[in-house]
Amino acid sequence: MNNPFTLSFGKKPLQYVSRISQTQKIIEEFNTSKPSNQIYMITGVRGAGKTVMMTGIANELRAQDTWVVVELNPTRDLLQSLAAKLYSLPEMHAHFLQKKIDFSVLGIGVSIENATPVTDIENAIELMLGELQKREKRLLISIDEVTNNESMKIFVSAFQIFIRQEYPLFLLMTGLYDNINNLQNNQSLTFLYRAPKMILEPLNYTAVRTQYRDIFQLDVEAAGEMANLTKGYPFAFQVLGYLSWEYREKRKTKTIILKDIMPEYDQYLEEYVYSKIWAEASPKDQEILGEMALSGETRVKNIRDRVGMNSSQFSIYRDRLKNKGILDTRTYGQVSFALPRFAEFIQERIR
Ligand SMILES: Nc1ncnc2c1ncn2[C@@H]1O[C@H](COP(=O)(O)OP(=O)(O)O)[C@@H](O)[C@H]1O
Ligand SMILES: [Mg+2]
Repeated sequence: MNNPFTLSFGKKPLQYVSRISQTQKIIEEFNTSKPSNQIYMITGVRGAGKTVMMTGIANELRAQDTWVVVELNPTRDLLQSLAAKLYSLPEMHAHFLQKKIDFSVLGIGVSIENATPVTDIENAIELMLGELQKREKRLLISIDEVTNNESMKIFVSAFQIFIRQEYPLFLLMTGLYDNINNLQNNQSLTFLYRAPKMILEPLNYTAVRTQYRDIFQLDVEAAGEMANLTKGYPFAFQVLGYLSWEYREKRKTKTIILKDIMPEYDQYLEEYVYSKIWAEASPKDQEILGEMALSGETRVKNIRDRVGMNSSQFSIYRDRLKNKGILDTRTYGQVSFALPRFAEFIQERIR
């Protein structure tokens, strides 16, 4: 049997731990008869499972009759891509051909003799949304890894208008916290400002343990030790599973000595994710994280004293590091690392 774990990003893994509550929250909201919210932004660190979760939701809705799902590439012209993708739905172009509506000036479809040309892209999309509405369909647009670029801004302001016109469309986006935040703080995109962000939670501990237990036929304790080593971070779950599988194959053994795997585990986490996270952290963030890693201190008050910050200064950094998925603040008065082996990584980095 091939290794069932994967090191690649963006694709639903064979070993998949479902995120029932967060996934269902979005699906249910989008499916209510009078949705109060038509947009969601999924955020979390690299490797937190944003793309996998968004794809999962898109696939689930696509399987329902009422939904049409369109995936857009954030580096392209989004309105143009949306129009082209809507037009390419079979029932759409048949309808427009029959009605002699011509989008060819916009680079969509073919030119039609004696037809009314549509020359404005937003207008073209409105016509298509109107058709979906008539057919009682809902449209989900998904965009992976958004940034605060020009095309996104244009797209979101058009989306805002379509919503106001009560077209049945929904938007699901993923992005790193800073990118989403920058996009949201655009003066002109007021409606994005209020749009909910969903920060991805760690994978469920028991579910992770069960998967390891089943796959490697371990007892609860040994599987629990592995689950702890991942802290529910999805990429780490894959890496640790992957390395454990390789380890057993290579040595023709059933027992896994985790200590032997650690150097490779650390190396994968560093190369795929941690180096980038560290490079993107501000000097102050690095100072706080460095202090925590070296001292092992978790009490907020003591960390604050060590870096010489008052309570309100510190809470800004703490909240940001939490939102980015780097710190765990669930215990009152304490902070700890949300990512596995991140303290060890920092210790190596700054020594
Ligand atoms: N629910 C999950 N269960 C198990 N592994 C997951 C899950 N979600 C993501 N992964 C794994 O985590 C890694 C990162 O997932 P991905 O969705 O690409 O993250 P992101 O888009 O946040 O960077 C991939 O290797 C993927 O296989
Ligand atoms: Mg991704």
